[in-house]
Amino acid sequence: MTDPFDFDRYDHIRPILWTGDALELLDQRRLPFTVEHVACSDSDEVARAIHDLAVRGAPAIGIAAAWGVVLAARAVQAADGAEAARKLEPALQRLNAARPTAVNLAWALARMRRVLVGAGGDWREVLEREARAIADEDLAANRRMGALGAALIAPGSGVLTHCNTGSLATAGFGTALGVIRAGVAEGRIARVFAGETRPWLQGARLTVWELQQDGIDATLIADSAAAHLMKTGAVQWVVVGADRICANGDTANKIGTYQLAIAARHHGVKFMVVAPSSTVDLDTPGGEAIEIEQRDPAEMLGIGGVRTVAEGIAAWNPVFDVTPAGLIDAIVTERGVVEHPDAARMRAAFAP
Ligand code: MRU
Repeated sequence: MTDPFDFDRYDHIRPILWTGDALELLDQRRLPFTVEHVACSDSDEVARAIHDLAVRGAPAIGIAAAWGVVLAARAVQAADGAEAARKLEPALQRLNAARPTAVNLAWALARMRRVLVGAGGDWREVLEREARAIADEDLAANRRMGALGAALIAPGSGVLTHCNTGSLATAGFGTALGVIRAGVAEGRIARVFAGETRPWLQGARLTVWELQQDGIDATLIADSAAAHLMKTGAVQWVVVGADRICANGDTANKIGTYQLAIAARHHGVKFMVVAPSSTVDLDTPGGEAIEIEQRDPAEMLGIGGVRTVAEGIAAWNPVFDVTPAGLIDAIVTERGVVEHPDAARMRAAFAP
């Protein structure tokens, strides 16, 4: 494969830095006005950072958790990996419990557990190598998906994206935003729209800022403007990421994705899901089996710490929804494109 463009030129941000002593996370609660890192020196600090959204996005929380295991190992003495695995299991469980919906978290921890159990006296080095490999493979997958996804988009198209699926949400380059980076660079994408992504405003605070850092113009819309935008004919594709893709192709992603898929189908706009194969969970048969994270309703009652809702009002805050496979035109992973996904096509693409 030839690179679609100079990757480094269009991809400056890195949310997760391993210093050798600590894990530094670009604090996504404070962007875009404050660019500051939080340093985690033990695994419970990493779990807290994942739960509190200092680091967020399915692949990024998996990578952060893998480094969390490396940090947890510092508090443990063991002769070999099997003994270390037994001692580290409570820390792994706490990391796993930090957020429920994105399968990448459990996937990364399973990978760390697997190499640990088979390791000898060098188990600390084995863990560190695996954490680094998880991050490196994610970056490579994103670059590959960028090329595969962009190739589906006709020159001159407009796209709408949701949430933040960029470098901030991954080891770098991004999933859906990687496709957008590649598509813009190749001249396929002429217009980029990003939804605000209420209530946490990943689109407004993170996506348009991230694209601006790399010189890509994007237009912010209110989430509620999406159907109207589609009706104008300005967008030909909705391009989103995923937190868990089931065996039948049903896909969990940021709340609001499902209604975008419905509106897209109504308007003849195509719908693309972009995620590494680590987001595919063949053990979950369909969307009804996915645990949807519910967050503090307080996230909906104000903006930037300023209350906007009268006292005494109740709020419901599910932060993911499930888009049925039937509304998805293409699932793009680093292994290839699954068009019109269903259980048989998913099995053919991903079954071991
Ligand atoms: O709650 P968040 O911000 O972690 O949710 C993130 C999303 O829903 C993303 O679309 C998904 O994780 C893919 S990120 C490449």
